[in-house]
Amino acid sequence: MKPLSPTSWAARSMAGLLVFPLLPVEASTDNPSLAPAPPMGFNNWARFECDLNETLFTETAQAMRKRGLLDVGYDRLTLDDCWMLHDRADDGSLEWDTNKFPQGIPWLADYMKNEGFHLGIYQDSGNLTCGGYTGSYGHEAQDAELFASWGIDYLKLDGCNVWAEEGRSLREEYHVRYMQWHDVLNALPVPLIFSNSAPAYFEGEAADWAVVMDWVPESSELARHSADVIVYSSNGSAWDSIMYNYDMHARLARYQQPGYYNDPDFLIPDHPSLSQNEKKSQFALWASIGAPLILSAYVPGLSDEEIAFLSNKALIAVNQDPLGQQSALVSRDGTFDVLSRSLENGDRLLTVLNRGADAATTTVSLARLGLSSQSSCKYDARDLLTDEVSTIDSAIEIQLDSHVAKVYRIALPESCTKTTPTGMVFNTPSGLCMTASTDSVTFEKCSASDSQVWHVAATGDGTKLTLSPLSDTSVCLAAGDGVSLAKCQGGTGATWDHYISGHLRSSSGNCLTQSKDKASIEECVIDNVGQIFGLPSGVRLGKGRLN
Ligand SMILES: *[C@@H]1O[C@H](CO)[C@@H](O)[C@H](O)[C@H]1NC(C)=O
Ligand SMILES: *[C@@H]1O[C@H](CO)[C@@H](O)[C@H](O)[C@H]1NC(C)=O
Ligand SMILES: *[C@@H]1O[C@H](CO)[C@@H](O)[C@H](O)[C@H]1NC(C)=O
Repeated sequence: MKPLSPTSWAARSMAGLLVFPLLPVEASTDNPSLAPAPPMGFNNWARFECDLNETLFTETAQAMRKRGLLDVGYDRLTLDDCWMLHDRADDGSLEWDTNKFPQGIPWLADYMKNEGFHLGIYQDSGNLTCGGYTGSYGHEAQDAELFASWGIDYLKLDGCNVWAEEGRSLREEYHVRYMQWHDVLNALPVPLIFSNSAPAYFEGEAADWAVVMDWVPESSELARHSADVIVYSSNGSAWDSIMYNYDMHARLARYQQPGYYNDPDFLIPDHPSLSQNEKKSQFALWASIGAPLILSAYVPGLSDEEIAFLSNKALIAVNQDPLGQQSALVSRDGTFDVLSRSLENGDRLLTVLNRGADAATTTVSLARLGLSSQSSCKYDARDLLTDEVSTIDSAIEIQLDSHVAKVYRIALPESCTKTTPTGMVFNTPSGLCMTASTDSVTFEKCSASDSQVWHVAATGDGTKLTLSPLSDTSVCLAAGDGVSLAKCQGGTGATWDHYISGHLRSSSGNCLTQSKDKASIEECVIDNVGQIFGLPSGVRLGKGRLN
């Protein structure tokens, strides 16, 4: 297929679906140094919604400083919606609500700076904010310059009240607007950190969601990808809300890279419906997957125990690890989720979550961690919540109470430093796991069997992948007329390119496709949700994306 220029959008239409060429474009952010690690701090929304004011922010900053949160890295306080007046001033500029901010926002930004913090702010890319205040549409550069002049260095840009201009789809409209904001923010003498909300508006439409995610890492430092986490005033289950956002997050591991972070929304350690275990688990999970750590809680009212687990330096170090990987699923069986990723110093991270209603035990083998299981290789695994170290010979057994997460940092001995990306290969829209059987490949409910855990190895120049199930590592996923398992060595059609869009393309030029429980090989189509796959963490992306 002849590649089009990167700016050319639609290639041709077939059977009502758009078919796109695969383009040689590396996903990258312009300014990786703007956010070398996931942002940490406070935002008022989930705890206080529109009831924000100067006192809340100064009291919160004082509490964060006195209680040690600033020292461990929580250094950003961001105003959410409802800080402004409903109408713009005569010259078109935004004005803060002087009842809420009597000394003004520039004063507050200065106060934060003197206390060692940064102040962030909220706007919306549409005509109105979600709370009905004036949006930024048509005032982008004016608003950005105003924020910068106030001493603000972080913008959360929501996406309520956006209507598509004639000739554009809604997803194209968000692309245009958020890239425009990216350009506006980057043109400032000191660019603002950009928190993008566009994907959250497409979470219910798998194809649109993926297409929006494909450009998001180029536009911003972080992006809210799905629903708002539950607010304090709601009587719903906060654990269900946390699990919903975590599950959406787990589908997006491939997008994360140093300088760009998927954002599953706030830590909510004082939500009244959470047990102490659930609060700790949210923090352990968010830290280990590499999510922004932004508290939405009444910080002066948090218990000492809550402050202590939120200040766990070993978990925060993992969260801020410069390799910037997101943990990806190794296996899932309805009770246990097992995730892993690598860290910059070569250590391997293991996260295990018991989602079930009862205490239960699971075992994770070295092979599932992508580590060598030669008898000479013994690994020290540090439990980052208790600081206890245990030695892994061949597998680690983990017993967990209901809704408890554990995180282990595993050191690799000098002669055993090789790691292989290992884990689930799953269709992210359906959640079904690619499953190997003797002579076929199917898609089934995830059950954590060895036939659903894949070793993914780079071959040759490093952009071609092979995929072998742990149940028989001598065979590889292969594409001919259909999808099968073939001897890895010399097998034809057994290498694959992987794209940021989630497509796995065989050397024939066609893509792995899931429909119901069947695996097939079909023309690569960006809107075919059966072609979007999640892979283990650490798999290098092929050079390109569906554009
Ligand atoms: C500021 O906001 C907090 C949290 O909503 C509220 O409890 C407090 O009464 C407010 N203070 C002022 C001075 O408005
Ligand atoms: C949104 O704002 C733009 C620019 O001010 C205006 O042209 C448009 O009519 C507004 N759309 C709606 C639906 O209010
Ligand atoms: C939550 O529950 C309380 C008492 O059961 C009730 O008064 C209140 O209206 C409920 N709030 C919401 C948002 O459902």
